[in-house]
Amino acid sequence: MLAVILSGGSGTRLWPLSREAYPKQFLPVVTDETLLAETIQRGLQLDENARVMAITNEDHRFVVAAQLHAQASQRTEGIILEPVGRNTAPAIALAALAAGAESDELLLVMPSDQVLKDMKAFREAVDKGAEAARAGKLVTFGIVPSSPHTGYGYIKAGKDQGGYADVAAFVEKPNEARAQEYLDEGGYLWNSGMFLFRADRYLEELAEHQPAMLAACRQAWEGKEGDMDFIRVAREAFEACPDDSIDYAVMEKTRDAVVVPLDAGWSDVGSWSALWEIQPQDEHGNVCRGDVITEDVSGSYIHSESRLIAALGVDDHVIVETDDVVLVADRSRVQEVKKLVAKVKASG
Ligand code: GDD
Ligand code: MG
Repeated sequence: MLAVILSGGSGTRLWPLSREAYPKQFLPVVTDETLLAETIQRGLQLDENARVMAITNEDHRFVVAAQLHAQASQRTEGIILEPVGRNTAPAIALAALAAGAESDELLLVMPSDQVLKDMKAFREAVDKGAEAARAGKLVTFGIVPSSPHTGYGYIKAGKDQGGYADVAAFVEKPNEARAQEYLDEGGYLWNSGMFLFRADRYLEELAEHQPAMLAACRQAWEGKEGDMDFIRVAREAFEACPDDSIDYAVMEKTRDAVVVPLDAGWSDVGSWSALWEIQPQDEHGNVCRGDVITEDVSGSYIHSESRLIAALGVDDHVIVETDDVVLVADRSRVQEVKKLVAKVKASG
């Protein structure tokens, strides 16, 4: 099995800690290890023959290389570098081409910015999925939804196949009303963002649903140049590639997907409130990292990088201190941090 680690996103929702130059996958946000390092370890722990490959943007090559080498020196298949981001569908196409267009090797696609607490449950889900993937299915991993979150894909589970179910429908990022309908109706799962399939099957699906994307990726792959562990795909061809995520480009369209339920303490660490939720809280419901002193504070996430944060009499806040920015926000509104990021950018 080849663990394909997607590491090209920018993750602005954890601003000001996560920046374009240093997105959240490169940060130790939950433990002392970065999310990327934890993902690499998860990939390697799947089985002793598992190998890892990373796909990232040219700008982040050294951080990724350092983390990959520290964890997986003998079991790495290198790092594919994208000259520009074209979202996840083309990135995964490059990994499949690297495995070999005719290859029936199983690819486990893993976002590099998620948390999974229960490795045993994860491994069991992957084992179940591997059966279906070998038979040619595109396997998703489904999480029981707890809110009408609009940042996720929704999977309607169909016929039970024993351990997994057919995907009756896949809807990427529905609006809130639609997401609420799915919750009320029941039988829907969130898409975890991890996928498992044979390299050749993914390329067949692209040939059917996204022929222009496949052609551009093939051309970019054929023009690649190697330099140490780095595989640089041809810039012009890749720039011309349509930009789309696997969710819209393939998963909404394929007729051959299945879903394995996953109950393994999954979180996509998509916001400050998610970080507050998944970490141990003190007796007042606070999560504090770094140098923090509180008096009569509750339900808050407070993160100091270097200076002392002293907070008094506030509830349900997010306070994040970095060298050049201090964020203070209502915990229920952290999804809107991107509005602030846009304003900061506009102000130069
Ligand atoms: N190499 C590479 N190139 N990686 C990328 C690119 C790219 O152009 N764009 C994004 N990624 C990486 C991100 O770093 C992340 O690890 C992963 O691919 C997924 O991208 P996101 O941008 O975080 O996707 P999302 O969170 O909006 O949605 C996906 O994940 C959800 C669960 O967290 C979808 O699969 C949803 O359906 C799913 O629910
Ligand atoms: Mg994400």
